Amino acid sequence: MRHIMVMNAKGGCGKSTLATNLASYYAGEGYAVALADFDPQRSSLDWAALRPPEYPAVHAIAAYEDGLRSLPRNADYVIIDAPPARMARNSPSSSGVRRASSCRCSRRRST
Ligand SMILES: Nc1ncnc2c1ncn2[C@@H]1O[C@H](COP(=O)(O)OP(=O)(O)OP(=O)(O)O)[C@@H](O)[C@H]1O
Ligand SMILES: [Mg+2]
Repeated sequence: MRHIMVMNAKGGCGKSTLATNLASYYAGEGYAVALADFDPQRSSLDWAALRPPEYPAVHAIAAYEDGLRSLPRNADYVIIDAPPARMARNSPSSSGVRRASSCRCSRRRST
């Protein structure tokens, strides 16, 4: 299971665009892909909801709520869309950046 995290402190610089394109690419190559959205703005989740059902599947996860608890065990690629730094500063108790950065450790603990 390979993890690819797309993160940058700057907002609006293309993180979600890159994350969704990576997810789409790997799904098209035949891999089992999970797309974990750690940003409560839900851009990646909105993208996944609009993805036509006949396209190769991308398993979207509301990771900003629940981390990677619902991550499918068979995922080949986990694409992580991290929030910008301002989100982390505004909500320290649910710091998306910190949660996204520690998600591998969390996953390891839960298995
Ligand atoms: N390579 C690119 N060239 C031109 N426009 C782009 C490119 N990548 C992203 N954009 C546009 O920039 C805007 C912001 O992109 P995106 O939502 O992916 O950024 P983000 O970093 O995820 O933002 P946020 O910090 O709010 O989550 C969108 O309108 C998107 O279409
Ligand atoms: Mg985004």
